[in-house]
Amino acid sequence: MNYELALVPGDGIGPDVVGESMKVLEAVGRKYGHTFHATTYPLGGCSIDTYGVPMTDEVLKACQKSDSVLLGAVGGPKWDHVDSSIRPEKALLGLRKGLGLFCNLRPALMYPQLKGACPLKDEIVGDGLDIMVVRELTGGIYFGKRGTTADGAFDTMEYSRMEIERIVRKGFEIAMKRHKRLCSVDKANILASSQLWRSIVESMAKEYPEVAVSHLYVDNASMQLVRNPRQFDVIVTCNMFGDILSDEASQITGSIGMLPSASLGVGTKGMYEPIHGSAPDIAGKNIANPLATILSVAMMLRYSFSLEKEAKAIEDAVGKTLDDGYRTTDIYSDGMKKVGTREMGDLVKERV
Ligand code: IPM
Ligand code: MG
Repeated sequence: MNYELALVPGDGIGPDVVGESMKVLEAVGRKYGHTFHATTYPLGGCSIDTYGVPMTDEVLKACQKSDSVLLGAVGGPKWDHVDSSIRPEKALLGLRKGLGLFCNLRPALMYPQLKGACPLKDEIVGDGLDIMVVRELTGGIYFGKRGTTADGAFDTMEYSRMEIERIVRKGFEIAMKRHKRLCSVDKANILASSQLWRSIVESMAKEYPEVAVSHLYVDNASMQLVRNPRQFDVIVTCNMFGDILSDEASQITGSIGMLPSASLGVGTKGMYEPIHGSAPDIAGKNIANPLATILSVAMMLRYSFSLEKEAKAIEDAVGKTLDDGYRTTDIYSDGMKKVGTREMGDLVKERV
């Protein structure tokens, strides 16, 4: 098959890690007989510098036309003081909305090879952590009415029934493919949108009798994540709570530089990106860890192109590279072999 990809490396280490991922993807193409044709577009700070806006209409259109989008990272201190209407983050929200990507999958997986980096005690972690955070991505407080008044400012959190139903359904479907446990996180003791959310989860639960459903308030959920993370299989939650909890979930795995993510809509098109940021201080220095982006490519093959075998080939190659002792600086520990961004890309590519 022939696939058209839009590459938006973005800022900072984005180009470093996207470049390595493409090497790996091309190796997959050669091995399994697919062509991945990629076109690169500016997004975020680099787009502000050239075009005065974080995302041009052309870039949005190109991404809409593509089969999938691979993103590096956007933003950096250089653009921290630009007008809030053109901040690099706007491009990210614009792409999510413009591509209708309401479902954000953020797996928080602990790599056994990196167990030493996990900040939790051994007895809490047991034989590992594997949580999938399913975050609503195109609604809620991120996209609600906001503004400033004479002496204040406000943001609003609004959800339609349809917006909640479609993400909650994704949560159930993913739970069915995993360990059949779904925890819905809300703030139903306070928020009206959370009360609607909870009632929708409860009624949909009847369609998935095999799934064990629980509800947690977001404050309790954030505490439970460090107290007993192994109770979680799939977490489904709104845009803002998912933003916060996915950072927490990823950090407790100790693999923050390793974790990929997928943003999906109704069709097969998705946007794939590492969960880490643009780390401008190490950009272009052959230091950044490309594995999160390489693993994002594996998610693309799985979720957008249904190429499970190919996705697995990348994940296995990453596992093998770690087994062989290769580490970038961020995941380095004594006795391991330290390598740079490009070497890491090559090592994974060879193992594919
Ligand atoms: C994320 C980020 C973004 C978000 C920012 C950069 C707008 O934190 O993808 O989690 O809040 O969604
Ligand atoms: Mg975030």
